[in-house]
Amino acid sequence: MPKFDDVLTIDEMQALARARVPKQFFDYADSGSWTETTYRANQDDFSKIKLRQRVATDIEDRSLSTSLVGSASSMPVALAPTGLAGMQYPDGEIKAAIAAEKAGVPFTLSTMAICSIEDVAEHTSKPFWFQLYVMKDRKFIERLIDRAKAAQCSALVLTMDLQILGQRHKDLRNGMSAPPRVTPRFVFEMMRKPHWALGMLNTQRRSFRNIEGHVEDARNLASLSAWIADQFDLKLNWTDLLTIKRQFGGPVIVKGILDADDARSAVAHGADGIIVSNHGGRQLDGAPSSIRVLPEIIDAVGDKVEVFMDGGVRSGQDVFKAIALGAKSAFIGRAFLWGLGAGGEAGVTRTLDIIRKELDMTMALCGERDIRNVGPHNVYSNDIPPRS
Ligand SMILES: Cc1cc2nc3c(=O)[nH]c(=O)nc-3n(C[C@H](O)[C@H](O)[C@H](O)COP(=O)(O)O)c2cc1C
Repeated sequence: MPKFDDVLTIDEMQALARARVPKQFFDYADSGSWTETTYRANQDDFSKIKLRQRVATDIEDRSLSTSLVGSASSMPVALAPTGLAGMQYPDGEIKAAIAAEKAGVPFTLSTMAICSIEDVAEHTSKPFWFQLYVMKDRKFIERLIDRAKAAQCSALVLTMDLQILGQRHKDLRNGMSAPPRVTPRFVFEMMRKPHWALGMLNTQRRSFRNIEGHVEDARNLASLSAWIADQFDLKLNWTDLLTIKRQFGGPVIVKGILDADDARSAVAHGADGIIVSNHGGRQLDGAPSSIRVLPEIIDAVGDKVEVFMDGGVRSGQDVFKAIALGAKSAFIGRAFLWGLGAGGEAGVTRTLDIIRKELDMTMALCGERDIRNVGPHNVYSNDIPPRS
């Protein structure tokens, strides 16, 4: 395993995170639902797309800059919302948000974060994005949106693919919970991961702080799945999007779209952007990879709203392929979580640096100078088999 300073790839970052993060939280990130087929497909399908190499074009003065729903971004990459990032590393969401701000890319805070909206706002100086899960307690949701507005979040990401929690076997077997239950197995893990344990002892942020203290019955809910099973609103529908958009007043991005008809419905109900996503293979196992369905969703709504994607992005080459197939930006989930677990803020910075460098070099070797000019002409996209 490389030392932190020698890490060159996201895979190496993953290996470092495995060594530093307690097993139940490392596994929580590194898992998909049921057979994990969709989790694997997200990456496998990227590797089927081949890049079109070009030579003898002027590739001096390259630019990766873009804008995402009105916010400038130094490259077409954003940090995806991930629950419990503060269990990968103490104060994890704060650390990741600071790294994203320094790198000039959007950070999205999950509803199921350990650090609260207010915690992140207090430690950052530029607006971040907030991801909303819709729960039955609509008063709580209204307050949450108001808190995001008060923190000047510049976009709301409404996740629509998790009203029921996909079954992830590793979490069930590990008894995953936040804060962790102190079992003999966990104490043994603490002895093997002393940096993590010490860091956690030095912070008060160990539970769901967007929820804790804001909902009466959440204080004693140890398990994420118990909370979700109890509170997530199975009746979520497109009219809720209209209501939420009205209340937030800023750009709303709908996350979890894999189907062209759903993409059209989202747009018809006011979405300003769409994230083509299967939740990193954590929900409907057997669903196609995000990159595979991206082109048909671009065909359906790409001229009306900004379309983003996530799922399986592990390199700058993957980002380039997503942009070539029409995405305005790629979100990274596990790639940044592994950086976070491996080295906190420095680890996320390193992850973003790796991806930026790979993206820039890939763009150059494909004969492009400006990411905004990258398109289908840069890939042999027929290497992704059509969806049957
Ligand atoms: C550990 C973990 C926690 C996640 N939590 C959330 C969440 O709270 N809200 C959400 O909308 N998506 C969540 N996701 C999904 C991510 O936003 C994103 O869709 C996914 O990670 C993309 O795939 P990738 O990890 O292969 O990049 C989570 C993903 C992971 C890995």
